[in-house]
Amino acid sequence: MNPLEAALSNPWAALRELTDDPLHPGGAAATRELMDRADVAAGTRLLDAGCGGGESLALAAERGARPLGLDRDPGLDEELAIDAPVVRGDLGTFPVRDDSLDVVLAECTLCLSDDVAGTLAEARRVLDEGGRLALSDVVTDGEDGERRLPPFVGGALCLTNGMDRDRERLRARVERAGFEIRGVRDHREDLLAMRDQVAEQVDLDGLSSLMGDRGDDLREQASELSGKVENGTIGYVSLVAEAV
Ligand SMILES: C[S@@+](CC[C@H](N)C(=O)[O-])C[C@H]1O[C@@H](n2cnc3c(N)ncnc32)[C@H](O)[C@@H]1O
Repeated sequence: MNPLEAALSNPWAALRELTDDPLHPGGAAATRELMDRADVAAGTRLLDAGCGGGESLALAAERGARPLGLDRDPGLDEELAIDAPVVRGDLGTFPVRDDSLDVVLAECTLCLSDDVAGTLAEARRVLDEGGRLALSDVVTDGEDGERRLPPFVGGALCLTNGMDRDRERLRARVERAGFEIRGVRDHREDLLAMRDQVAEQVDLDGLSSLMGDRGDDLREQASELSGKVENGTIGYVSLVAEAV
C-alpha cells in the first residue's frame, strides 16, 4: 500500500506522526484534567478503550495507576508510549471480568463504536461499585443527521458513523447505561486549537492534488468541517460518570 493510501485507511496512525500527544482535542493536558476528575490515582485499575499509541496509558502510569489498553489497531509494541499490557480488540467486547476495574477511559473513541449502547454496557459491566467512566467525545448539534463523510476527513474527526450525536443524546445514553453523570465540560477552545494545528501541519493542497477527483472532495469537505467547528455545529466535550 502506498503512503497516501495507508494514511487514508488509518488516519490516526498518520496523525500520530505529527504529535507525541494523545490524539484528541486538548492533548495530554485534557487527559490529565479528565483523570483528576475521575480520581485516577495510585492503584487505580484503568482500561483505556481505544488507547491508540498508549500516550494516555503512560499518563495513568505516571500517577501509579494500573493501566490496560484496548485498541483495534494499537501499533507495534516498540511504537507504544509505554510498556503496559495492550490488547488488540474491538470496543464491543472488553477483555476483562465483571466488576474488575475502577475507571474506563474512552477518549475520542466512543463515537467510533459500531454499537455505542453496547460499548457503554461493557463499560458498566467491567466497572466495580463506585467505578467511573471518563470519556471525551465529538458532539454535534444534530443538524446533519446521519450524513456520512469521506473516510479520511470523517475518520480523522471521528465522524465516520454519521454526525447525529448531539450532547444531550450522549448524556442520555450514558445515563441509560447505568451511570450518574458527575459533570460535563466543553472543549471548544481545544477543538479549535487542534483544527488549527492539523491545518498547519497537513499539506492539504499537496495531499488533495495527489488524489485526483477525490482530492476536490477532500478539500471541500475539510473546508466545510472547519466552518462547522468554527460555528459550533461540531464540538467536543468530556464527562465523568459514576456507575450506579
Ligand atoms: C482518535 S483515536 C484516539 C486514540 C486515543 N484514545 C487518544 O485519545 O489518543 C481513535 C482510536 O480508536 C481506535 N478504534 C477505532 N475504532 C475502534 C474499534 N471499533 N475498536 C477498538 N478500537 C477502535 C483506533 O484504532 C484509534 O487508535
